[in-house]
Amino acid sequence: MTKVNMIQVTSQEEAAKFVKQRLAEKLQQGQLNNIGLATGSTMIPVYKELVASDLDFSNVTAFNLDEYKGLSASSPNSYAYFMNHHLFQHKSFSSTNIPNGLAEDPEAECARYEQLLNDHPLDLQLLGVGENGHIAFNEPNTPIDSITHVAELTDSTLGVNSQYFENDEEIPNVAYTMGIHSILQAKEIILIAFGEKKRAALEKLVAGEIDQDWTITYLLTHPNTTILTDLQL
Ligand code: GLP
Repeated sequence: MTKVNMIQVTSQEEAAKFVKQRLAEKLQQGQLNNIGLATGSTMIPVYKELVASDLDFSNVTAFNLDEYKGLSASSPNSYAYFMNHHLFQHKSFSSTNIPNGLAEDPEAECARYEQLLNDHPLDLQLLGVGENGHIAFNEPNTPIDSITHVAELTDSTLGVNSQYFENDEEIPNVAYTMGIHSILQAKEIILIAFGEKKRAALEKLVAGEIDQDWTITYLLTHPNTTILTDLQL
């Protein structure tokens, strides 16, 4: 079991600058061919910082963690839309990938995405965390060897995420998500968690024991994970 590297920061901007700096180093060393990206409000300052920077991602291929099943990329509530809005329309990447929320054959879509990940090992994965400790949409009790799959979202996650939905669109209760195994393949992981609502999840992590009910704790098996947080733990 490894210990994650916990760094306390004072603001989301400081966390964003840390990420930018790390990406700059990796780009300079030629070690950023494939990057894993996340959605969520926590990532907005990070993408703002990247957009304002002179970093060049034109040789980097991007992979997103997850997407709501049933939403099209043009739905303002889809993660594809979020990524275009906050990052991709401002910065060009070699290519960008996200599960297709409208895929006709969900099983084939999961297999397609996992194969892409196998063919493009991630040099760095950015992560947020849900209030119930989920990473991507790997809800409590997702096994450590899970690969890309369709996940049923818990009531807690649906409740938290409802704030981002317009009233006229139903919140999907299923989503495509990279699995825990898919995420743990990344060479380096940076997880950002801000605010008291994330304290329970980070406390589970610092307790140092794998707990299937808190999928964030699987990161304890990863050799190079950094946590950026404003919380004192
Ligand atoms: C969703 C995403 C997660 C993300 C989480 C936290 O559930 N699937 O990948 O980490 O939201 O979102 P926020 O940053 O808004 O707290």
